[in-house]
Amino acid sequence: MAGKISIVAALMVCIAGVVHSHTYYLGSCPRVEPVNDFDMSKFLGRWYVIQKFSTASSCWTYDFIRNKTDDSLKIVQSRDHVALDTIGLDNNYRYTGALDVPDLNRPGFMRVRFPMSLAGKADYVVFATDYENYGAVYSCQSILFGHRRSASILSRRPTLDQPFINKIRSKLETFGVDPHDFSIIDHTDCKTLPSTSLLNVEVNPNTFSTGNVINVAKDVGKTVG
Ligand SMILES: *[C@@H]1O[C@H](CO)[C@@H](O)[C@H](O)[C@H]1NC(C)=O
Repeated sequence: MAGKISIVAALMVCIAGVVHSHTYYLGSCPRVEPVNDFDMSKFLGRWYVIQKFSTASSCWTYDFIRNKTDDSLKIVQSRDHVALDTIGLDNNYRYTGALDVPDLNRPGFMRVRFPMSLAGKADYVVFATDYENYGAVYSCQSILFGHRRSASILSRRPTLDQPFINKIRSKLETFGVDPHDFSIIDHTDCKTLPSTSLLNVEVNPNTFSTGNVINVAKDVGKTVG
């Protein structure tokens, strides 16, 4: 029984690590406070991921998109890498998550659900931003006896001045989250699609079976490794 649980845990951690660059820890999620008076309408649009937990891969962008019909929010995490074109592989990785705000008085504290997350929703917190230059998001999900967490330092441009980076890293540290899990995301050889081309990317968190998740994880592993 215990053996079975640890296999499942290892599998989930493995998938999580491959697909979403989370880091697994024992105990409960550290509580990271959202920015005061967060304004999603100013945060929408394209962000370049400058640093992200536990991934060495390049070219990540996040697009925060609001559906004007029903006001729903989604995040599209994309990695469009030009070098992979040349070897004939699918060059696009795209993960779309549905975001919601459980408490309208705390708009910077959201919940996210990604299709490939077997464990359901995760906390999604915007803990720093000036909307025009930098942003920073933290996510955490309780899973079995621990949690997996991730954070990303975002910029409106493919680079970000070091003082902003330092400020974000030390802010995260004040919440008890070790910034040493950050890796640098390179943006030099990227082919980034315009933000507007992602408007119709579907969010469909319920269509992924466990089998699909494992296949996707394998494919990602093959392509990246
Ligand atoms: C926006 O929401 C409406 C109503 O739920 C839906 O019919 C439509 O497909 C959504 N548009 C996009 C681009 O997701």
